[in-house]
Amino acid sequence: MQMSRHGTSLRLFHSVCLLLLCFSWLCSLSHGKRTPPPPKSSSRLPVRAVCLGGWLVTEGWILPSLFDAIPNKDLLDGTQLQFKSVPWGVYFAAELGGGSVVVANRTQASGWETFKLWRINETTFNLRVFGGQFMGVDTDGAVVATALSPGQSEAFQLVRNPDKTRTRIMAPNGFFLQAKKDGSMTADYGESTSWADDDPSVFAVTKVGQLQGEYQICNGYGTSKATPVLKNHWKTYIVEEDFRFISESGLTAVRIPVGWWIASDPSPPAPYVGGSLKTLDNAFKWAEKYNLGVIVDLHAAPGSQNPWEHSSSRDGTQTWGTTDANIAQTVQVIEFLASRYAKSPSLLAVELMNEPLAPGTSLASLMKYYRDGYHAVRRHSSTAYVVMSNRLGIGENTTELLEFAGAFPGSVLDVHYYTVFNSIFNNLTVDQNIDFIRTNFSGELSKVTTHNGPLTFVGEWVAEWLVPNATKEEYQMYAKAQMDVYGQATFGWAYWTLKNVNDHWNMQWMIKNGYISLKS
Ligand SMILES: *[C@@H]1O[C@H](CO)[C@@H](O)[C@H](O)[C@H]1NC(C)=O
Ligand SMILES: *[C@@H]1O[C@H](CO)[C@@H](O)[C@H](O)[C@H]1NC(C)=O
Ligand SMILES: *[C@@H]1O[C@H](CO)[C@@H](O)[C@H](O)[C@H]1NC(C)=O
Ligand SMILES: *[C@@H]1O[C@H](CO)[C@@H](O)[C@H](O)[C@H]1NC(C)=O
Ligand SMILES: *[C@@H]1O[C@H](CO)[C@@H](O)[C@H](O)[C@H]1NC(C)=O
Ligand SMILES: *[C@@H]1O[C@H](CO)[C@@H](O)[C@H](O)[C@H]1NC(C)=O
Repeated sequence: MQMSRHGTSLRLFHSVCLLLLCFSWLCSLSHGKRTPPPPKSSSRLPVRAVCLGGWLVTEGWILPSLFDAIPNKDLLDGTQLQFKSVPWGVYFAAELGGGSVVVANRTQASGWETFKLWRINETTFNLRVFGGQFMGVDTDGAVVATALSPGQSEAFQLVRNPDKTRTRIMAPNGFFLQAKKDGSMTADYGESTSWADDDPSVFAVTKVGQLQGEYQICNGYGTSKATPVLKNHWKTYIVEEDFRFISESGLTAVRIPVGWWIASDPSPPAPYVGGSLKTLDNAFKWAEKYNLGVIVDLHAAPGSQNPWEHSSSRDGTQTWGTTDANIAQTVQVIEFLASRYAKSPSLLAVELMNEPLAPGTSLASLMKYYRDGYHAVRRHSSTAYVVMSNRLGIGENTTELLEFAGAFPGSVLDVHYYTVFNSIFNNLTVDQNIDFIRTNFSGELSKVTTHNGPLTFVGEWVAEWLVPNATKEEYQMYAKAQMDVYGQATFGWAYWTLKNVNDHWNMQWMIKNGYISLKS
């Protein structure tokens, strides 16, 4: 495994082998067949890995305390608010979802009545409507939702009452918005308030969604205040000792989520914080020392490949893959990572993208990107596996990438199996959950594990379920059942995640407390 550190003759032998491998790959590409994976890396398979989630890509639920010192931390980018006029009992809405006026005449709230925040600072925000436009004020004081990008006329100050249940919205013209009885909205209310029920400038606010990702933490603190917070987090959250623990526990690799901005370290675009690249360098150093493989996983792609906080989406909008320039930019990130770590004996795989979501991410864009990204990795490494994730949200068609991916030697298909994010698991018993793993997930895995296709990787799973108050023994059975089934994946599996304030999502806690044992 540490071949590159041995003598010249070995290195020469290695180079010849690589040449031969490259040659056979070229042949195999033209014949559409898969050659056996490179020997250096294949000896590590199948991996038993753990993800290092919440380290270089922030997810609030993994470690909420990171957000504690943000002023108005409940009003971050992407927070979704609905506003109900207190005297009239109606919500205000972007008529037609956007592109028109803002009205105050809805008795029920849904998409058109939901406004997403873009944070300018702790009190001033843009409000983005359903159709993607921004709320603003016309020269005549009418409230509209027509701006495609926010400017001065779209900056609103949110002024809250002491218990933060009621809000007034100050428009850029210095007046407060008011809801009129006829259902219109205007920015012309100048009175002070006692937050009384008859005040037309007072709105009751309901928060219906929020994000706590990298964008939110960086822009919530502001880059300069976020810098010491994140630098301290990178240095202390996961340390060399954890790599020793991982190795001694019987795990063989780590899957490390990274964000696209790492490629422009040390000066990434606003609001991101520089310095995470050094942390990834350390991870490789420790992985080499403790003989662990590293799967570098592009978890957050520019524009976001899904609407969730872990793709660092600003407001849940998903625009990855909508232009060729965006795809090319993403390929450059992969090229950067591959070139930087290709020489590390620990580089096991580059995962081109985590959890792209259909239909926002089209199959055509994804295939173009996977093809280009694959070649970007191969320009620097002939031995690293290249992981391509299945799209989520494709229903039954989990085989849509099989033939495509199978044409690239050393490719791996990533599938994620959870029994917590779907209401079909709400009332399942312990036995029913285990049956689901042994029957349904097992069946899905064998459907994508084919002779001529890519290797398969259960790149995320967790021993957590919706069973209330399960015993330790039941959790042990559940973890074991999953390891039995996912052990059939030809590339291996990775637990989500190493550390987490929620014990069952915290593999270190699960191992230390005897819920998971890898030494049988
Ligand atoms: C709300 O007001 C707008 C503009 O006057 C009108 O077009 C729309 O039909 C009204 N909607 C309801 C539910 O009353
Ligand atoms: C927030 O931004 C607005 C608009 O730029 C500015 O007027 C206001 O002073 C800022 N407030 C704080 C607390 O920085
Ligand atoms: C699944 O995806 C493949 C590849 O895109 C396509 O050929 C096939 O028709 C799809 N099957 C279904 C049932 O949608
Ligand atoms: C689960 O059980 C509860 C109460 O027993 C029931 O109200 C609910 O509909 C069930 N949910 C599903 C998805 O079956
Ligand atoms: C799980 O598998 C069982 C047995 O094949 C099947 O009846 C059931 O519909 C599957 N459940 C889901 C949600 O696919
Ligand atoms: C689970 O435990 C909690 C706290 O001990 C208890 O309140 C709850 O009723 C239990 N739920 C079930 C379904 O047994």
